Amino acid sequence: MFDLEYFIAECRAALAVDPSQKLVREVIARAVSEPAAVLKGLGEPKRAEVQKLYHASDLTILNVIWAPMMTITPHNHQMWAVIGIYSGREDNIFWRRLPDGSGRVEAAGARALSVGDVETLGHNIIHSVTNPIPRLTGAIHVYGGDFFATERSEWDSETLMEGRYDAERAMRRFDEANAIQCGP
Ligand SMILES: [Fe+2]
Repeated sequence: MFDLEYFIAECRAALAVDPSQKLVREVIARAVSEPAAVLKGLGEPKRAEVQKLYHASDLTILNVIWAPMMTITPHNHQMWAVIGIYSGREDNIFWRRLPDGSGRVEAAGARALSVGDVETLGHNIIHSVTNPIPRLTGAIHVYGGDFFATERSEWDSETLMEGRYDAERAMRRFDEANAIQCGP
């Protein structure tokens, strides 16, 4: 069974032993190895949203529900992150800055995540995420810092140029995605 309070305590304990993502990753891998239990504990995904499960200056835990076929623009976090999938799929594209100092990025790699998969992102990683399936995807995203207060960047989907990350705008994308699914 998946108990949210216990999961949070496990993440906190892992972080206390090792401030890197190494032990937290093990906690998340254990959780998503039993996806049915996570679904029961967090509830079946019903709409695209970001649920804040835990939020502190050194640790943020989110339940991210991606809308069908939803894509978010490349962004960084400026802290490590661990993603664990408990329902659906998440395709990650990894990006790197062009060496010309333009602020533009180019694609550098990709990883397709399925149920039970865990991906670790280093402090400076830039990624974009797509849910490539026609139903909701559920993922636990854990960050080694304050996800909402940290200054960071996003890259325009069309020009791939760097801009300031706007957390509120990012959250609005989930509402917009829900509106698209429901139609006009
Ligand atoms: Fe991200």
